[in-house]
Amino acid sequence: MKTVTTIAEMRAACLAARQGGKRLGFVPTMGALHEGHLSLVRAARERSDAVAASVFVNPAQFGPNEDFAKYPRDLERDKKLLASEGVEFLLTPSVDEMYPKGAATIVYVEGLSEKLCGRSRPGHFRGVTTIVAKLFNIVAPDAAFFGQKDAAQVAIIRKMVRDLNFPVEIVACPTVREPDGLAMSSRNAYLNAAERKQALVLSRALREVEKKFAAGERGAGELMSAAKTVLAREPSVTLDYLEIVNPETLDPVPNEDARGALVAVAAFVGGTRLIDNVVLGGKRKG
Ligand code: PAF
Repeated sequence: MKTVTTIAEMRAACLAARQGGKRLGFVPTMGALHEGHLSLVRAARERSDAVAASVFVNPAQFGPNEDFAKYPRDLERDKKLLASEGVEFLLTPSVDEMYPKGAATIVYVEGLSEKLCGRSRPGHFRGVTTIVAKLFNIVAPDAAFFGQKDAAQVAIIRKMVRDLNFPVEIVACPTVREPDGLAMSSRNAYLNAAERKQALVLSRALREVEKKFAAGERGAGELMSAAKTVLAREPSVTLDYLEIVNPETLDPVPNEDARGALVAVAAFVGGTRLIDNVVLGGKRKG
């Protein structure tokens, strides 16, 4: 694996691969890698001739009171994992390399960026789209791979790619879960043993929604109250949002038809903010 820290080196390495006729897959990450990230690399390998990745904890997507400083970092471990999964090119830039003094341009997807996590994390998605646009310009991948766990991020990046004509296929990969159902996240490392147990209420609530949906319930309100009932059984977990929305527009679905809807939840478990979601089956009407 060729590991580089500068934009120029990454651009040159990726360009050479593409000029050699290789279809290039790209997995952008913030490091602290877990099985979810590795599943993205595996998906990228299946659908590409060479895989590029990045590890960069992007300050622009953290709010002033969020966990940028304490976000888990273990670059040596990340490098080993990516190399063993067959990544060919890895960019691990410094903050100054990505945001040189005086950088003033942002990429902002209006509307979508204020929904779901965007409502409680103002500026978060602007930071995500800005860095992802920059990385796409550096790597110029044919396809880029993101976890469905960050469903709003996927919707926003798809919209950015359409609106700005990036020639990049966006591939969303299924959420990878611990055996007990907890969605994998680098932030799970913050949880103590008691919180780790409490955190299960998120996936439990979503499973209840799926169960009700499978039994024929289509009403968004009914599905929502089923989830809320489960969440209420863990009063130490503070709900940020629970929404049943169209997975593309992130707007609430009509109350009578939750088919194809994204059920998204965010909650604080102790000081840790966790998110999870499921997409309900079935085709939407019209
Ligand atoms: O999903 C993430 O880890 C980040 O938001 C991303 C896409 C790497 C941008 O920093």
